[in-house]
Amino acid sequence: MDYKAEILKLKKELPVTIVGHFYQRDEVFELADITGDSLELARRAKEDKNPWIVFCGVGFMGQSVKIIAPQKRVVMPKIACCAMARMIDASYFDESVEFLEKHGIKKEDILPITYINSDAAVKAKVGKMGGLVCTSSNASKIITRALESGKKILFVPDRCLGQNIANMMGLKSCVIGEGECNPKEADIICFNGFCSVHQLFSVDDVRFYRQKYPGIKVAVHPECDPSVVKEADFVGSTSQLIKYVASLDPEQKVVVGTEYNLVHRMREKNTYVLSATKPECPTMNETTLKDLYDVLVSIKEGNPINEIFVDEETAKYAKLALDRMLEIK
Ligand code: 13P
Ligand code: SF4
Repeated sequence: MDYKAEILKLKKELPVTIVGHFYQRDEVFELADITGDSLELARRAKEDKNPWIVFCGVGFMGQSVKIIAPQKRVVMPKIACCAMARMIDASYFDESVEFLEKHGIKKEDILPITYINSDAAVKAKVGKMGGLVCTSSNASKIITRALESGKKILFVPDRCLGQNIANMMGLKSCVIGEGECNPKEADIICFNGFCSVHQLFSVDDVRFYRQKYPGIKVAVHPECDPSVVKEADFVGSTSQLIKYVASLDPEQKVVVGTEYNLVHRMREKNTYVLSATKPECPTMNETTLKDLYDVLVSIKEGNPINEIFVDEETAKYAKLALDRMLEIK
């Protein structure tokens, strides 16, 4: 079957908007009406006029849209889970808060921030404590605002993003369970989660490219290890990386540390992937054209598959955490 042609037909017939993250396979990505980094996708899907959002991405992305725009029907061709988001659940979050309490920090003196790459239950815990969500594109803005509260920042689940922002802002950070983590002495206390895809990039890779192509620029996502980020010329979200690479002279070589599907479509010439192995996000790659077709057919037949639902109590508090982020321009 020519899935592309069938999908294009169904798109015309149905009141749907297809949303696609940059890490999606090319054939899926090219059919998306809205593309962007996590923050842009959430904002634009919320404002979209169609009642149906077909989200090609990972679970927390579709779930976030359902929470901030509960009137929308959100379906996902594949309910694929971000591996990092799965590293923390509500009980691990509670344990992290207890860790700070054991070190003499009262609960009311803790301001939690969760990376958007987390489950609704974690966002709800954060929302209940007065905290907020951040993405890779607004993390330093959100942390700057959070610091105004004078509270200790508990950052979950990505230890790399937390440490990288702390380093950029000249703040002290530590990681729970890693070496000596004394929350009294740190400004940002990070949960020990990470993205296995972005862990593939190493300082050796950066040095290899700098030696091979003197003058090359190094651009990486802030989910990379802090040792790699320290050696980079540019650090940013997926959208920010795209803009940075597009701003370079066409003859300027650049090596990029983020997911393969995005890097290979960035620029035809003089663009390299910062890894000897192919850094693919396995769960982002799960969504196929057939999945997209199947989900559209299910809407047409009035029997939608893979629809996202979030229970009322969880959604109420998770929305608080997401809305607090969205209010910060
Ligand atoms: P962006 O918000 O930069 O698109 O990142 C999402 C993500 O999961 C990166 O691994
Ligand atoms: Fe999650 Fe990493 Fe995949 Fe991004 S690249 S969706 S953080 S597993």
